[in-house]
Amino acid sequence: MKPDQYVVIGNPISHSKSPAIHARFAELAAQQLDYQGLLAPLDGFAKTVHDFVVAGGKGANVTLPFKLEAFALATELSERARIAGAVNTLKFESGRMYGDNTDGIGLVADIVRNAGVSLRGKRVLLLGAGGAARGALLPLLQEQPATLTIANRTLTKAQDLLEQAKSLSTSCDLQAYCFADLQQPFDVIINATSASISDEVPPLADTVFCKTTLAYDMMYAAAPTAFLRLAASQGALCRDGLGMLVEQAAEAFALWRGVRPPSAQVLTEMRAALQASQE
Ligand code: ATR
Repeated sequence: MKPDQYVVIGNPISHSKSPAIHARFAELAAQQLDYQGLLAPLDGFAKTVHDFVVAGGKGANVTLPFKLEAFALATELSERARIAGAVNTLKFESGRMYGDNTDGIGLVADIVRNAGVSLRGKRVLLLGAGGAARGALLPLLQEQPATLTIANRTLTKAQDLLEQAKSLSTSCDLQAYCFADLQQPFDVIINATSASISDEVPPLADTVFCKTTLAYDMMYAAAPTAFLRLAASQGALCRDGLGMLVEQAAEAFALWRGVRPPSAQVLTEMRAALQASQE
């Protein structure tokens, strides 16, 4: 019998690590499935999904630039996808198209489980107010930090996200700032801006970091991002987004297969491969 078919749909797609991650999950969790990268034309996302469903596809991950289109296409949404306004995981079942967003829960899993840093009662700073920050909002608030501060280059966007956060939590102390006004120290600082892509870093005062701060960049690369270099220079504990990538994949795998893959093992293997690629 042909194994169940899954894809990650994006444009471009050849760089995606998702096929390798899911193949390893399947191997370790003894699941029979096939998972491939699928390039969709920029104007052809819906047709690509439709054709895959007709061919018997069971589920899809969705990456740039189609997460908003996947949100619009889904016939049902998880609460976190609805709040994120974006979908990175689709499950096809009995003519239904269920949309979820596992990015934020993957971030939290990597911080709490893999890094062993609890967010409960902590002072958390979220840098950025675009799609990545929005996707993290509900899973972060569900961890019940004492404070959540949203800081963005464009203050009005941070304020808009703040309003959304206020509708999700009454117990957390919520603030919006522009970078220049941030002076106070934080326990956890999460970089959800896209500044790392151009090797830039939001202009942060040294005083936001302390020796026990966890600095987390949602991006990862073979070498530390500009944000993590800054955080390291201030003595902070640094973590890149490789674990978030693996954990968001694990959440999708669990949704599709009803089985939780050994994500920590796969993260260790991927970290070793990334380090080896540097040498
Ligand atoms: P994503 O889906 O990756 O979140 P996005 O929705 O375009 O992408 O959002 C990008 C985020 O990174 C925004 O918060 C953006 O700030 P603005 O709202 O002011 O545009 C932020 N960003 C991008 N480049 C940045 C830079 N060089 N320094 C600081 N913030 C930056």
